Amino acid sequence: MFRLHFPGDIVTCKAEGRTGMSGLARRLARASAYASAVAILTLLAWSPSAYAASGGPDLEQAGNDVGNIASLQRGARNFMNYCAGCHSAKYVRYNSIAKDLELTEDQVIENLMFNAEKTFETIEASMPLDAAARWFGQPPPDMSLIARAKGTDYIFSFLKGFHLDSDSPTGVDNLHLPGTSMPHVLWELQGFQRAVFEEPDESATGSDPVFSHFENASSGAISPEDYDAFVRDTVNFLEYISEPIRATRRVLGVWVLMFLVVFLIIATMLKNQIWKDVT
Ligand code: HEC
Repeated sequence: MFRLHFPGDIVTCKAEGRTGMSGLARRLARASAYASAVAILTLLAWSPSAYAASGGPDLEQAGNDVGNIASLQRGARNFMNYCAGCHSAKYVRYNSIAKDLELTEDQVIENLMFNAEKTFETIEASMPLDAAARWFGQPPPDMSLIARAKGTDYIFSFLKGFHLDSDSPTGVDNLHLPGTSMPHVLWELQGFQRAVFEEPDESATGSDPVFSHFENASSGAISPEDYDAFVRDTVNFLEYISEPIRATRRVLGVWVLMFLVVFLIIATMLKNQIWKDVT
């Protein structure tokens, strides 16, 4: 005789045929088979949704890869050299950067820690917040979660979107954040560009000029391709700090999928076993 034990319930299959089988057990087996099939399909179909377009000028694709450690290391260096003067990242500790980016603590102390004494400290901006707020009109936002809040394509486009504007106190405006108070801090690398706008079609009366393209006003220290790479690495670092657990989670996701596949097989076998004698 073949017995299957369920909590508080004994199901007898072969000998007694259907009669001894509990409806609960049958439903349980069927439900778990369906549930794991649905879960597998959902996980396979899921992909991180792109941030909705803001309705402004088109965004360029950042094309960064948080799995690329060398790029993250360069991004950390860029961030500490060009951004941390104004922007903090107060949920990020230097020692976790060291661990995740495969750097020794000494490398971090020498190359990244300009604003801190101890490696367990978080990234503070060099500039006091209230002074920054006074100078810029608003305090430079903390960068810990900015990639999640704004999206990597947005930040990539934002850092490439500064253009000359003689009316602005900083001398530049930004295509993606018009009227921004952030100066073009990367001007030495990128140089300066002018934004060319076109008048809208006559049919579309009343609308504003439409952005057409940028034209070079003065070249920077590096080529446009190298500037793209510089910005991509920086954005990559910002995406990493906004979700440092991401890499671990991906690995975990694979294990969860494998578990679900195995569970689906077991649940199917169980279902077949229970329904075997039913005609
Ligand atoms: C001189 C100070 C300063 C430096 C250096 C600086 N920023 Fe900013 N940043 C600002 C200020 C001020 C704002 C707020 C701008 C606003 O809201 O108009 C800002 C805003 C931002 C925003 C938010 C834009 C938005 O849409 O709200 C991002 C992203 C950003 N900065 C990224 C960077 C990165 C990356 C670097 C380094 C390459 C950097 N910043 C360097 C001052 C700075």
